Amino acid sequence: MEPKLGLRAQVGVVLGSGLGAFAEELSNPFTVPYKDLEGFPISTAAGHAGKLVVGNLGGVDVAVLAGRSHLYEGYSAAQVTEGIRLLHGMGVASLLVTNASGGIAAELEPGDLTLITDHINLQGANPLIGPHAPFPDMTEAYSLRLRNVAKEAAAELGITLREGVYAAVVGPCYETPAEIRYLKAIGADLVGMSTVLEVIMANALKMEVLGISCVTNKAAGLSGAKLQHDEVLEVGRQARARFADLVKAIVPGLPAGLAA
Ligand code: HPA
Repeated sequence: MEPKLGLRAQVGVVLGSGLGAFAEELSNPFTVPYKDLEGFPISTAAGHAGKLVVGNLGGVDVAVLAGRSHLYEGYSAAQVTEGIRLLHGMGVASLLVTNASGGIAAELEPGDLTLITDHINLQGANPLIGPHAPFPDMTEAYSLRLRNVAKEAAAELGITLREGVYAAVVGPCYETPAEIRYLKAIGADLVGMSTVLEVIMANALKMEVLGISCVTNKAAGLSGAKLQHDEVLEVGRQARARFADLVKAIVPGLPAGLAA
């Protein structure tokens, strides 16, 4: 499904849990609630608004998906990547995906903003499955040149930007300490329940991808404390102004592709 909205954009942004603030930065915003997009999955998770906002930021036409759907809500891989196909249909060349994650690497602290350098898909799902499946290369699923744009923007703002590999699990329960030790052993620095299917779809559609994660908690068993969804959302809220500042600084510097 690609609704014929007649909207065009050069850069796309997917906002995760509690990070909706950035959508308010766009000038001349045009908002479409997901419920008005036929067949579009409505996110039911706490902390996720559900709307497409198209507007301008620093001369770049930006389409923001404020809120995403997840496998753990019962949606399929096709449904959770519907928004990526929508952005592609609008002409988006560069995609910034954001999320919240648990920090596995010892140096990652709650509130840290982290550049996703690569991912490990442990969701047992793939949006490309089907007849005539494509075989996209994933060697640089998270674009090096876009990562450099992000690093420069962060340095200018004086924001520390960490780096790490994101492992995606299905959820909705948080991981066990044994699962976190396993994820660490296989090379994961961050763990979350979203993003990778979107990034797979975006790569298949030849979009250039940048991923930034807000670490909301130390992963299970690493801090001695139990994980609570409310606390995860609260750390996301505390980091949101800084996160929105960073996204605002990055977006105008992303390649806009061929003008629409
Ligand atoms: N695990 C999985 N997903 C998450 C976490 C976590 O610890 N924190 C935020 N999203």
